[in-house]
Amino acid sequence: MQRDLSEELQRIYNCSPDELLIHVARYEQLLALYRSSFPGQNPTFIVRAPGRVNLIGEHTDYNGYPVMPMAIDRDVVFIFAPRADNTIDITNESPSYRRRTFDARFPVIPYEQGDWGNYVKAAVHEILDAGWIDPKKAMGFQAVIGGTIPESAGLSSSSALVVASALAFLAANNKQVDNNRLAELLARAERYVGSEGGGMDQAVSLLAESGKALKIDFFPLRTQLTILPENLSFVVCNSLIRAPKSESVRYAYNRRVIECRLATALVAKAVQERSGKNIHPNRLADLSGQKLGLEQRTIDKIVSQSFGERPLRLKEIAQHLGETAEAVQHRLCTLRDGSVLTEPPDGFKVWNRYRHVVSEAQRVESAVAAFAAGDSFAVAELMNQSHASCRDDYEVSCPELEALVSISRDHGALGARPTGAGFGGCTVNAVPSDQVTQFIDSMTAAYYHGYVKKEKERPFTHYTNLHDVIFVCRATTGAGAWPSRGDR
Ligand code: GLA
Repeated sequence: MQRDLSEELQRIYNCSPDELLIHVARYEQLLALYRSSFPGQNPTFIVRAPGRVNLIGEHTDYNGYPVMPMAIDRDVVFIFAPRADNTIDITNESPSYRRRTFDARFPVIPYEQGDWGNYVKAAVHEILDAGWIDPKKAMGFQAVIGGTIPESAGLSSSSALVVASALAFLAANNKQVDNNRLAELLARAERYVGSEGGGMDQAVSLLAESGKALKIDFFPLRTQLTILPENLSFVVCNSLIRAPKSESVRYAYNRRVIECRLATALVAKAVQERSGKNIHPNRLADLSGQKLGLEQRTIDKIVSQSFGERPLRLKEIAQHLGETAEAVQHRLCTLRDGSVLTEPPDGFKVWNRYRHVVSEAQRVESAVAAFAAGDSFAVAELMNQSHASCRDDYEVSCPELEALVSISRDHGALGARPTGAGFGGCTVNAVPSDQVTQFIDSMTAAYYHGYVKKEKERPFTHYTNLHDVIFVCRATTGAGAWPSRGDR
């Protein structure tokens, strides 16, 4: 068992012998937890799903524009065995998450909002809904779960949990599914936690390759591997401000999704009136210069002239669209769970959101070219531009992320930006590989022992291990399941 496990883990993590020992110990600990949770029984499978760091392309995925993340060597691991009935029984190694037991019966009724078990239920519900497993014949599984992805930090711990749950449920039912199709299905599973997330996190967790970033296009899902230059490293720094997707961040995130939907309707109407073209877009990417056969500049001009650059009230949007406010609310402001997003007190910032999304999409394309040319400075500069756009037009930054970005640049990062949904969580920093140790040391002194200690009244997350808040990302391979021989 020991040798098999080490070999498998070396293939996945591609790391030094010392690091491998740490990974092996972690899996061994989970195997021991399995044996004590289910006495006398052996696990038959192991599943692992990685978190991710997004290098560039923020809030573009749900608009149909590309992203460029990489999977990281922090992940969610399930050790499990199928059961003879349809019960799913999961024990989390972290005592803060209570054991969860439910039946794989359609529909799977969610726990209360915020319950960690909903991420497991989300995967099971979607797979049953898709008809990939017949609910009448579904087999459950019993599992222990462990994870090393910092939570509520913008590194996709929850999506990794959804992906791992799906792979466990499929393996328990001996069902093989193409990873692209699974990624598309699981992107929709986010409805379970009430967020309108795009498809980036699930796609990279499933489709990543070791040592590479992934440019991902959506609708339909397509991926292109990007080789990462050896002289540039990506360092994650956690701001220590929690950004939980299922709680406070939900309204702010969903608001932006709706603002983009409103932008899509308004841009389509404006372009249609000016150009006479009959268009029926589903999302902003359907209105790109390339799709419409127009210069991007021309579209931007039509847009700014027709509905202006200031925030709009629902009433004004309705007037532009020639509909009633109620109709617009019903058609465009309804979330996947059926609830309606209330109008923000400062209005819908349609123009700013539009400008961010379109410019960010162009930055992703430029980053592909910069990576291909091995131009680290150009990559870093695009990351810096992305940061400014996320801060000013998309407004997903916060004072702590801003402090972190500026301290990083002062201490040697060529490029620095918040990663993931924002509103807290982490930054990703492009640092010359030969300066990484020095960068981590000076960031530790300046941010974690300096800024955080001074700003005592802010709600920073407590941490015990610095390696979990500032670390270099190693691009790992995507999620997978393999047989476990727990009976060694
Ligand atoms: C969250 C979502 C992703 C994506 C990012 C922002 O992580 O889950 O789909 O929208 O925010 O880029």
